[in-house]
Amino acid sequence: MTNEHVQLLDELNMQLANWNVLYTKLHNYHWYVAGQDFFTLHEKFEELYTEAAGYIDEIAERILTIGGKPLATLSDYLNHSSLKEATGSEDAREMVINLVEDFNAIVSESKEVIEVAEDQGDEVTADMFTGIRVSLEKHSWMFRAYLH
Ligand SMILES: [Fe+2]
Repeated sequence: MTNEHVQLLDELNMQLANWNVLYTKLHNYHWYVAGQDFFTLHEKFEELYTEAAGYIDEIAERILTIGGKPLATLSDYLNHSSLKEATGSEDAREMVINLVEDFNAIVSESKEVIEVAEDQGDEVTADMFTGIRVSLEKHSWMFRAYLH
């Protein structure tokens, strides 16, 4: 296994960790959001954790497909994620602001994954993260419109 391939697998595991932290955070926000936008955000956060669940399985199975081992415990996810967990004291607006920040972080890390995957000739992994990027950029735009 080349160094570049090991680097790609490490970066994929970092994204797997990020999506697991985000999956729990989105549930936290889904349950604890309150105020006049409750119904809108409660539903939006559910849509997003459902999307996150899809990415978690896709990324993990891609790691297995290309010869790696996906992280599969909560402690590993917390140790490898670049995202912070929910604090439990966010109001609705702070929840949205935090998610925009998390999405921006994942988008910029996904660009890195795409570059490394393309250098490896792994177009499938690159395409997967391009799809994630397209979706997150759209969600970020919607949240920014909400915050305006
Ligand atoms: Fe629910």
